[in-house]
Amino acid sequence: MQRIQLHYKNVLDEVIGSDHGLSLADIEAYNEPVDQMVRQMNDQAATGKLPYRKLPYDRQMLREVQQAAEKYRQGTGNLVVLGIGGSALGTIALQTALNHPFYNLLPDAKRPGPKLFVMDNVDPVQFAGLLELLDGQLDRTIFNVISKSGQTAETASQFLTVRKMLLDRLGKQQARDQIVVTTDPQSGTLRQIVQQEGYFSLQVPAGVGGRFSVLSHVGLFAAAMCSIDLEALMAGAADMDKQVSKPVLRDNPAAIMAVVQYLLYQRGKHISVMMPYSYQLKDMADWFRQLWAESLGKDRTLDGKEVQVGPTPVRALGTTDQHSQVQLYRQGPNDKVFTFLQVKQFDTQMPIAGQFQEHEGLGYLGGADFATLINAEKLATEYALLKSNRPCLEVIFPRVCAETVGQFIYFMEVATSIAGVLFNINAYDQPAVELGKQATFALMGRSGYEELAGELQLFGDVDQEYLI
Ligand code: PA5
Repeated sequence: MQRIQLHYKNVLDEVIGSDHGLSLADIEAYNEPVDQMVRQMNDQAATGKLPYRKLPYDRQMLREVQQAAEKYRQGTGNLVVLGIGGSALGTIALQTALNHPFYNLLPDAKRPGPKLFVMDNVDPVQFAGLLELLDGQLDRTIFNVISKSGQTAETASQFLTVRKMLLDRLGKQQARDQIVVTTDPQSGTLRQIVQQEGYFSLQVPAGVGGRFSVLSHVGLFAAAMCSIDLEALMAGAADMDKQVSKPVLRDNPAAIMAVVQYLLYQRGKHISVMMPYSYQLKDMADWFRQLWAESLGKDRTLDGKEVQVGPTPVRALGTTDQHSQVQLYRQGPNDKVFTFLQVKQFDTQMPIAGQFQEHEGLGYLGGADFATLINAEKLATEYALLKSNRPCLEVIFPRVCAETVGQFIYFMEVATSIAGVLFNINAYDQPAVELGKQATFALMGRSGYEELAGELQLFGDVDQEYLI
C-alpha cells in the first residue's frame, strides 16, 4: 500500500532558529506522556469507548452502505445531500478528492454515478436555485437527509420543503421512495419520522460525532453512489490505524502532528494553516478546519478549570492563495504553523505547451509540466516562509487515491484526539455550538424557547444612534 508521510523537520530550531522553532528535546520530552496516552486510547478503542476508531474495520456497515448504493444507483440522476457541518463536509471532501474535478458537468455516460449536490446552507437563492434545476427530474433524484440530532434547523427546513415538493409532484408513495434518512439509530426526531413514514434509513453510529463520522454511513453512502472505492478508502484508514496505535512517539505520525501543533501553540502559534497544493485536497482542508476547531476550541479543562484554548484552523490553497495570503503569512505576525499537503505524483500528465521561446518571461515554462510547476511553487512558498522563520509541516501524498485519502482522514482524526488529551479538554463535544442552535429555535418560534426569544430581542434591535 502507498503511504502518506509526515515530514516535520521544518518546525525545528535548526531550520528556523530557536525563537520560533522547537528543539528535538522539546518534542522528545513527550515520549513518555505519548506512550501513556496512546496506550490508553488504544484501550478505549478496544473497549468501544472511542467508537470512531472501530469504523475502518466495520464490515457490516460497509456491506449496508454498498447494498443501499446498489438499491439506489440504478435510475438515479441526482443525489442531493441535505446536511450541515459534520453531515456535509466529509462528503464534499471525499468527492473533490476522488472524483473528476468537474464531475457534475460530465456527460451521463462518463459520470460514474448521479450528479451530487451537497446543500449545507439555507440561503434562499441557492436552495431555490437547486430546486428549480431539479424540477422535472424529481423522480430521478434521491434526497439523503443527514442529521444526527434530527432537529438542526437548516437540515430540518430543507427536509420539510423537499418533502412537500415531492408529495405535491410525485404523490405519497413515490415521494417516500426518493428520501433516504441518515440519523441516530435509536433516538431523535428524524428517527421517529423514519418509523412513522417508512423511509429507508442509514445510521449515524452511536457515540460518533458529526466531524468524526465521514467514514460511516454519513459520508460513505454518497461516496458509494458516486463510485468511490470504499474498500480502498477503509483499507487506507485501517492501515493508518496500525501506525497511529504505536505508542512510540517517533513512530506515530498522529502523535507527532499533535505534539508539534500543541508545542507550537504554547509558543504563540495560535493559528494552524492547512495549505494543500492539490485541487483534489482542497476540501480536505475545509473538513480539517471543522475537525480541529470544534474539537479543540474549549473553555474548560477535563478537570473543570476555566481556560480558553484552541488553535484557529485556517484553510488555504496553493497556488491560489500565494497571491492572496502569503504576504501576510511571511511578514505578518509569526503566530502560525503551516501544514502543506503535497502530492508526489499527480494522476494526470499535463505538459505546458512550449511557445514564445524568444521571450524570457514565458519561454522557460515550455516543455515543463503543471505537476512540476505546482510542486515547485509549493517548495518556493515553503522556502520563503522558512526564510521568515515560520514553522512548516508537510503531509506527503505519493498519490491522491482512496487509500491515501482514507489514511489522511484517519490520521487527522487521531491527531485531533491526541491533541485533545494534550490540551486536556473534551475533544468530542461542542457545547458552544448549541447556544446558537437554541437561539435559532427561539427566533423561529419553537415552543419552549420563549424566554430566550425575549432576551434575543435586546440584541436584535438596531440602535439608530449607532447606525450610519
Ligand atoms: O460535528 C458536529 O457534531 C456538528 O458539526 C454537526 O455535524 C452539525 O452541527 C449538524 O448536526 P446534526 O447532524 O445533528 O444535524
